Amino acid sequence: MFKINENYLKLPGSYLFSTIGKKVAAFGQEHPEKEIIRLGIGDVTQPLAPAIIDALHSAVDEMADAKTFHGYAPDLGYEFLRSAIAANDFAARGCEVAADEIFVSDGAKCDSGNIQEIFSLDNRIAVCDPVYPVYVDSNVMAGRTGTYDPATERWSDVIYMPCTEANQFAPDFPKETPDLIYLCFPNNPTGAAITKDQLQGWVDYANRVGAVILFDAAYEAYISEEAIPHSIYECEGARTCAIELRSFSKNAGFTGTRLGYTVIPKDLQVNGVRLHALWARRHGTKYNGAPYIVQKAGEAVYSEAGKAQVTEQVAYYMKNAQTIKSGLQAAGYTVYGGVNSPYVWLKTPGKMTSWEFFDYLLEKANVVGTPGSGFGPSGEGYFRLTGFGTYENTVAALERIKAL
Ligand SMILES: Cc1ncc(COP(=O)(O)O)c(C=O)c1O
Repeated sequence: MFKINENYLKLPGSYLFSTIGKKVAAFGQEHPEKEIIRLGIGDVTQPLAPAIIDALHSAVDEMADAKTFHGYAPDLGYEFLRSAIAANDFAARGCEVAADEIFVSDGAKCDSGNIQEIFSLDNRIAVCDPVYPVYVDSNVMAGRTGTYDPATERWSDVIYMPCTEANQFAPDFPKETPDLIYLCFPNNPTGAAITKDQLQGWVDYANRVGAVILFDAAYEAYISEEAIPHSIYECEGARTCAIELRSFSKNAGFTGTRLGYTVIPKDLQVNGVRLHALWARRHGTKYNGAPYIVQKAGEAVYSEAGKAQVTEQVAYYMKNAQTIKSGLQAAGYTVYGGVNSPYVWLKTPGKMTSWEFFDYLLEKANVVGTPGSGFGPSGEGYFRLTGFGTYENTVAALERIKAL
């Protein structure tokens, strides 16, 4: 008889967004006259920029003609896109990343979930707490995390690095030595960023202990301060210890169009085996490439017009984040994030738990956010609001919160 992968049964239910959905639906049914504003989601609301739409249209026309039709894409992605990425995201920042070290994919969620496959099950992972849940759950599915303790909400074989007010939401080096270190900066959910010196510290640490850093830079486009690195390859020595994950979702609105990439430098190796070769093998076996039309759309993000338009879009979301941050501060809240990130991380008032504050905000202001405890135990007592709504809704939500 067939057997299932029992690791899946160890996963605690993903209650966060389904619980939010149920609570909001129930409130809407009870109060159909109330207009609910959603500032909880990490999805974007603005349409794709004109340069991207133009590229999509002309790529679709190419697909309609036998002479310009494209079938399967090359395993690593089209050269035109990988070269544009290498030139704009890396060479322009002084980072050494070659086009053939870039693997184009359909987004950072898949890559951040799949990358653990090329590592032994013996590896110990270290994650921030709170954390983007994909890193832990994909390791649970693989069988790398031990047993789950519902009381502490922790896995026995995962090294947790609490990110709290005490360390300004930047993790300290763990007491136990990890093999794989997941870092995401600017961070989801806390909105915190770390300086180049801090990231250099992690690169030096990883090289010293022989660990690999899986650096998720999905929110890189939101960096506004000079001292914050856009890529881990700005740090010396990162080519021997770091993999970087990038997404077109938040910088260019590709959440529904799907495009991302992973960088694996050829210098990253253990006992003479390059991780680049393993991921190339994995990619070639299990993935048939992001669609041609989507890769053409991605290329347009790096055109002169595309760059200007996506910069404007990021500025729009950042204006929302600043509106949320300053509005909350004016209302007396303690607030973090929102400077190099579209996420604002606020401390719940009084002794309210994250969920109590969720209910309070929904009932009294008809505003939906995300309880911090849903991202891990160190998120308790915090709450996430996002700048990804429309400006009008953001202003209206803040007016309501200030009036509470
Ligand atoms: C930290 C982080 N990484 C990756 C992703 C997913 O990106 P993509 O849309 O490219 O799959 C998200 C989406 O919210 C995220 O917050």
